[in-house]
Amino acid sequence: MHILHVVGARPNFMKAAPVLHALGKRTAVKQTLVHTGQHYDANMSDVFFSQLEIPAPDVNLGVGSGSHARQTAEIMTGFERIVLERKPDVVLVYGDVNSTVAAALVCAKLGIRVGHVEAGLRSFDWSMPEEINRVVTDRLADFLFTPSDDGDVNLKHEGVPAEKIYRVGNVMIDSLVRLLPAARRCPKNGFPERYALVTLHRPSNVDNSETLKSVLESLLEINEDLDVVFPVHPRTRQRITEFALKVEKLHLSEPLPYIEFLALQSRAAVVITDSGGIQEETTYLGIPCITLRDNTERPVTVSLGTNVIVGQDRDKLSSELSKIVAGKAKKGTIPPLWDGHAGERIADVLQSLPFLN
Ligand code: UD1
Repeated sequence: MHILHVVGARPNFMKAAPVLHALGKRTAVKQTLVHTGQHYDANMSDVFFSQLEIPAPDVNLGVGSGSHARQTAEIMTGFERIVLERKPDVVLVYGDVNSTVAAALVCAKLGIRVGHVEAGLRSFDWSMPEEINRVVTDRLADFLFTPSDDGDVNLKHEGVPAEKIYRVGNVMIDSLVRLLPAARRCPKNGFPERYALVTLHRPSNVDNSETLKSVLESLLEINEDLDVVFPVHPRTRQRITEFALKVEKLHLSEPLPYIEFLALQSRAAVVITDSGGIQEETTYLGIPCITLRDNTERPVTVSLGTNVIVGQDRDKLSSELSKIVAGKAKKGTIPPLWDGHAGERIADVLQSLPFLN
């Protein structure tokens, strides 16, 4: 059985690692890893490969940045050539980035089976590029690996036959479980004792100067009570410079490696974010999370976990923060199957498919 994995952007790496490791332990499985090169900075890509112990990619398409159309088209053109050469039995795509949908579309047209890891998540917000990527990828996929029951429900509503849906749990949590001991050993040097950890990179928060200015003003207010630690995504860094915004008082850093960032999350008083994966990681860790978005494609982090959605409402943000500072943060539980074994369950499913063995 030949499985080809496609990764491209930072959040893909933590999701692919456990599946690569689980399949690597099985006999008679050949694996090929393709990196599209959507993320290319060493601190957005290489360091994750080494910390997550992912083998070096067999192919790097080196597509880099560009408009959505150009980036997607370049991935498709480069990836089609690779698939025709390598002839995998199944291609696995991860998450909801442009690399995910581009590779799935190539495979569907070539009649190659596609598995989507992290299927079924929906924000129902069509203005998010990731929502378009999620819906299209799920429509194209043959095997849909879901992290939680809302994923199954969404797919069934969209008419996906039940036999294509496999609830396997959350692969991103597999990586967290594996590397949390290393994160706990990370030295605390240089960071404040009690802090709010912030990440921001969604176009809806950072691409408009007034919106980004308002978010940063809220962070400066928070910083009066609680130090703000803010590793800055390249997109956000570019916008801060372009809009000449003031951030001197915040503890800004470059994007951090996986283990160091996990250490910061696990010790934070609160995490303020617009990321998808971080909503899940904080739920697992039991750390309060405030999400600066109007919706989430990961509703179990709100219904079961520690996540609270505040959108761009500054009053709601400050009232949620006051609760946390007063020790009255929302308590959560860990969703079912977020147990560190999702990658193994995906490997089991693939190995059980009659036409692959
Ligand atoms: C992408 C994903 C998003 C994911 C995020 C995680 C899509 C549509 N978006 O968003 O879902 O949450 O990754 O980080 O696929 N850049 C660099 N170095 C890099 C990568 C990017 O400087 O290694 C800069 C480039 O100027 C680029 C910008 O960041 O134009 C945005 O990168 P891009 O890959 O287009 O989207 P992200 O915002 O990173």
